[in-house]
Amino acid sequence: MSVATTPRNEARRDAGDEYEAFCLLFRRVCGIDLLQYKRGQMERRIRSFVATRGARDLLAYAATLKSDKAELERFLDRVTINVSQLWRNPEQWETLEETILPDLAETAPTRPSRVRAWSAGCSYGAEAYTLAAIARRAIPRSLVTILGTDIDARMVARARTGIFSAEDARDAPTATLASHFAPAADGRWHASAELKRLVRFEQGDLLRAAPEAGSFDLVLCRNTVIYFNEDVRDALHGRLAASLRAGGRLVVGATERVSEPARHGLAPDSPFVYRKI
Ligand SMILES: C[S@@+](CC[C@H](N)C(=O)[O-])C[C@H]1O[C@@H](n2cnc3c(N)ncnc32)[C@H](O)[C@@H]1O
Repeated sequence: MSVATTPRNEARRDAGDEYEAFCLLFRRVCGIDLLQYKRGQMERRIRSFVATRGARDLLAYAATLKSDKAELERFLDRVTINVSQLWRNPEQWETLEETILPDLAETAPTRPSRVRAWSAGCSYGAEAYTLAAIARRAIPRSLVTILGTDIDARMVARARTGIFSAEDARDAPTATLASHFAPAADGRWHASAELKRLVRFEQGDLLRAAPEAGSFDLVLCRNTVIYFNEDVRDALHGRLAASLRAGGRLVVGATERVSEPARHGLAPDSPFVYRKI
């Protein structure tokens, strides 16, 4: 790795502190705005990583990220926390399979019913493929489409392959897994062509996303907003709510909540599910 040793630059003077200046430079390199994320944990994470890379300071490291693609990859691995798995939080999938999906199909305005879902912050696609497998069982006659979006282009590329490790499948129900994923000799699981037809993946920044009002029946946004500042998170929940049709559902992570859901036109359905009024 080469570490640039340029003198203090204008960004530092303008931004007032080194961390802010680093975030501004990083945004220019790859478009991700780290200032929207909770500063305490993000700054600690970044500083401890940069300390292991031999850079003089954050600004020197920002210059390195601009010129060294491999280093940028390493840094992205550090800041975008991509942890996921198939059937993550199984109790949420039970609720989706038993009550939410059947209700969405029944209340859909057209026949055959259409269910349009969005996995917002999809990482490498485990959530989208799990939803696809569950939908095939719960609402087999519905036309289901699932869009997965993530800020990290590398995760989006991985999601498109539909291949998951044995570790990813550790909590998946054995019979359902086997009927929708083919085991490979190396222990990995390959999503069936049928599941792949239901999902599509795009790179996208949730903080800039402005989906058409009422364009989804179901939005899953789990384990992604925990990294955002509270006001950024609340504004995002508002935009996700606006993207739902009346009667649509927003599902958040098992330990997450929407703050003041009524102001976004949402009513709590169960601890992690909100219904668009
Ligand atoms: C912990 S993973 C959650 C994956 C999945 N939703 C789950 O619960 O298993 C969080 C994902 O959010 C993505 N992410 C972070 N900031 C984002 C943003 N501004 N826009 C879109 N995705 C973002 C990260 O790249 C990461 O893949």
